Amino acid sequence: MAMNSTAVVVARDAASIGKHVTVQGWVRTRRDSKGGFSFIELNDGSCLKNLQVIADGNLPNYQSEILKLAPGCSVSIEGDIVKSGGGGQATEMKAASITVHGWADPELYPLQKKHHTLEKLREWAHLRPRTNTIGAVLRVRNRITRSIHDFFQDEGFLYVQTPIITASDCEGAGSMFHVTTKDPMFRVTSKNLDKVIDPEAPDFFGKPTYLTVSGQLEGEILASALGKIYTFGPTFRAENSNTTRHLSEFWMIEPEAAFFDLTANMDLAERFLKRIVKDAMTHCADDLAFFAEHVEKSLPEVLKNVAEKPFQRVTYTDAVNILLQSKQTFEYPVQWGIDLQTEHERYLTEQHFKSPVIVTDYPKAIKAFYMRQNDDGKTVRAMDILVPRIGEIIGGSQREERLDVLTARMKEMKLNEKDYWWYLDLRRFGTVPHSGFGLGLERMVQFVTGMGNIRDVIPFPRAPGSAEF
Ligand code: 4AD
Ligand code: MG
Repeated sequence: MAMNSTAVVVARDAASIGKHVTVQGWVRTRRDSKGGFSFIELNDGSCLKNLQVIADGNLPNYQSEILKLAPGCSVSIEGDIVKSGGGGQATEMKAASITVHGWADPELYPLQKKHHTLEKLREWAHLRPRTNTIGAVLRVRNRITRSIHDFFQDEGFLYVQTPIITASDCEGAGSMFHVTTKDPMFRVTSKNLDKVIDPEAPDFFGKPTYLTVSGQLEGEILASALGKIYTFGPTFRAENSNTTRHLSEFWMIEPEAAFFDLTANMDLAERFLKRIVKDAMTHCADDLAFFAEHVEKSLPEVLKNVAEKPFQRVTYTDAVNILLQSKQTFEYPVQWGIDLQTEHERYLTEQHFKSPVIVTDYPKAIKAFYMRQNDDGKTVRAMDILVPRIGEIIGGSQREERLDVLTARMKEMKLNEKDYWWYLDLRRFGTVPHSGFGLGLERMVQFVTGMGNIRDVIPFPRAPGSAEF
């Protein structure tokens, strides 16, 4: 049945006029005409818009079924695609037969025509993909993932997989989820004495393990052999950040390239973001027009700006001076050495530069151990890319490739060299200058769609206190 069906996106195209096809999807609305026939708006997720179907009163199940169709019912409809009589669409369908697969009781189905808030829709994550907004988000998200692979494949990067369970803390932020087979809820009773595990006994992997916060360290291994690689996988952060930009589980794209210095890294990141935005503008025009109309008015201008204008580049020290001279009152006071907060990042990109900006050379005290140290002894070869509405969308750096400098820094930061023996081996054997960065997929989807809350750009958000579905 499904094999021969036609997607609504195809049926809506004028090229389908004159064809006899089957479409399959979910009823959005039914409207009955005085002339004894009905209009059915059918959506199948293939595009934002619906297919208008005309169901004639002569259809055998018109009285018994068609007049009972309500939002959410699933149907297969066979018929002719004809030129639409009404405006707003090129085609419509004259139904020859309608098969109902599943009913949706209008008394119980939550997605009625009335508008629901995004907060409310989050409680119905199992049904919200059927709404215009979340459907559009997921199509754009799909397009972005495709552009990510297209971009890196075109640039000669190899797609590699890094582990999800890991024993090393890449970012050193101490916000990792523990992976264990020991049951912390286990309470000894007289009946389960045989199941008591010695708390001192080794855990499953023989050492403490965690869900990864980043595939970078393993990515560096692979770049040290294959040259240019990228990872694209889930990452986990147990930070208690209840914000519109943080998830506990998110997807990260991490390229890593041997022989790249920070400038090459920044150039790569800029080309990368431009490619994603341009592709979305080309291939998701309807969905983006929807977001511009209903979600974020400034979207077309902001996206065009990113696609066309060169990104600004500024050192952290200069950025701090800009903030100090801005006469702006920030909630979090600015001084050299602070980690830039979202309010600072947004001021720089939205007010001052009015374009994406790459901030480089951050103080080493606020960055991870692996970043390459500058000769000033105070800063590292880091880069963050800031974009309007979001703030930081990419974080990256040139890596410290000098064994002695790296081990000295690890000592300062009280990291145990033994835990990183393999990472240090890369510096012992054929070390090379190299760089990479991480892009949070969900922040990118937020940026391209204009959606305000990161929980609405991933199908099943994970955040503190929230893991339903
Ligand atoms: O800046 P971050 O922490 O950098 C790294 O993890 C590096 N190891 C990347 C690398 O150099 N290979 O994270 C990178 C990006 C951020 O800029 C942000 O877009 C996203 O990941 N990100 C999050 N997205 C959603 N929720 C969170 N809790 C995030 N934390 C970081
Ligand atoms: Mg960062």
